[in-house]
Amino acid sequence: MATRPAAALPAVPAPEIVPAPKPRVLVVDDEPSMREMLSYVLEREGYDVVLAEGGGAAVKILNAQGIDLLISDIRMPDMSGVAVLEAAKRIDPDIAGIMITAYASTATAVEALRLGASDYLSKPFDLDELKLVVRSALERRQLREENVRLKRLVNETHQFANIIGRSGAMLSVFKLIAIIAPTTSTVLITGESGTGKELAARAIHFHSLRRDRPFVAVNCGALTETLLESELFGHMRGAFTGADANRKGLVEVADKGTIFLDEISETSPAMQVKLLRVLQERRFRRVGGTEEIEADIRVIAATNRDLVRAVAEGRFREDLFYRINVIPLTLPPLRDRREDIPLLAAHFVQKFAPQMGKKVTGLSGDALRALTLYEWPGNIRELENAMERAVALEQTPTILPESLPEAVRGAAVPTLRLVPKDAGAPALPVLPDEGIDLERHVEQIERDYIAQALERSNGVKMRAAEMLGMSFRSFRYYTKKYRLG
Ligand SMILES: Nc1ncnc2c1ncn2[C@@H]1O[C@H](COP(=O)(O)OP(=O)(O)OP(=O)(O)O)[C@@H](O)[C@H]1O
Ligand SMILES: [Mg+2]
Repeated sequence: MATRPAAALPAVPAPEIVPAPKPRVLVVDDEPSMREMLSYVLEREGYDVVLAEGGGAAVKILNAQGIDLLISDIRMPDMSGVAVLEAAKRIDPDIAGIMITAYASTATAVEALRLGASDYLSKPFDLDELKLVVRSALERRQLREENVRLKRLVNETHQFANIIGRSGAMLSVFKLIAIIAPTTSTVLITGESGTGKELAARAIHFHSLRRDRPFVAVNCGALTETLLESELFGHMRGAFTGADANRKGLVEVADKGTIFLDEISETSPAMQVKLLRVLQERRFRRVGGTEEIEADIRVIAATNRDLVRAVAEGRFREDLFYRINVIPLTLPPLRDRREDIPLLAAHFVQKFAPQMGKKVTGLSGDALRALTLYEWPGNIRELENAMERAVALEQTPTILPESLPEAVRGAAVPTLRLVPKDAGAPALPVLPDEGIDLERHVEQIERDYIAQALERSNGVKMRAAEMLGMSFRSFRYYTKKYRLG
């Protein structure tokens, strides 16, 4: 029986609102004209730019202030750009780095990439290319930081025992649990399958004064009426065939502790009468027994059914409903608190990676996006299973969309098939049962194509526009709209 000591009640965490700081870029080049040009362009792009005229000066700056991205010329008189990058990585392993080579010297560029540069530019480069490379290097760094931040959040705050969540809905659940845990009132937990009803029941018990006594869970839906009765109340020797000794029931096992009656809606009418009696009189009899035994139990019941309707339809006793519905606690479905999905996903990666001996440490932006868009009919249990599978399948340090179940991946880009230009009408996309947010979906597709076309054309907009069969003007409109160039 679980009797672990309960953790202290955590304070209800306040949502954080931190204004995003401007990314800071350090430009290192011995040529003043180059420094000037880069600083002009990057400042207009909204970055905070710091300049250094050589490697030595750059290292001093790196030691003194937080830099997000280092852009360095490779050939400089005092120190090579690659050495500056090495020094920078020693100071901050996550710093993004872009090398500028005067000659398209692949060997040096490759060496720089090996040392962790995000990219390189060979002179002369066009400004669109520069902006694109800088933006994607910073985006990658930001995503890495986001993963680290999520991990820290999972470890430090926003949890009630092991219940993860910081959406408004979950904060209310935490608050209610904190208030009702120390009482002995009966609680009725409702929520769809997989929303964490049992987890909440345990949290209530382990934050109650009964925490050092047993927590006993009974699945009322899994047993026949007679079996459930003897499981709950125990029996006397000879009460029925096979009852060759007296046996305590779970109500007695849970003495002075908590009994969790899961799937309470599934109990038979006769069982409902017996439960009502225990709840009203706090006494019961073993099957075949004559002696009345006192039941000192706190009852927490749970159901994923609509009990009010069951009462209306005569399938559930009204008097029993009122007895158990003293304090209702409703767990919201995951799709109504999507802001919890990244935190939960990070939590499950952290849980499964060490168990499987895998070096998976975070999630890619695309994977996070797909997870956030999916409907999760099986709620957190389904998310937990999806993450277990993803960690098992993933071959890289970050979960990629490819490792997610097909249905989840489909949420990000539903059923739209790519059609080459001139191939006639595109295949009809299929509208999922639960519907989609069309505007957002279309925008996402647009943005993805624009970004890919820009990448493939090395930032040459004319070419990118051609690839998408649109005029230069419309292409410019979209790159502005999505802030891509
Ligand atoms: N907020 C949460 N944070 C972390 N894990 C969670 C959370 N909610 C649920 N889980 C995990 O999801 C799984 C399902 O939770 P649980 O068994 O409590 O759901 P349930 O509502 O009782 O589901 P069912 O109705 O199917 O019995 C468990 O492994 C649980 O640990
Ligand atoms: Mg359950």
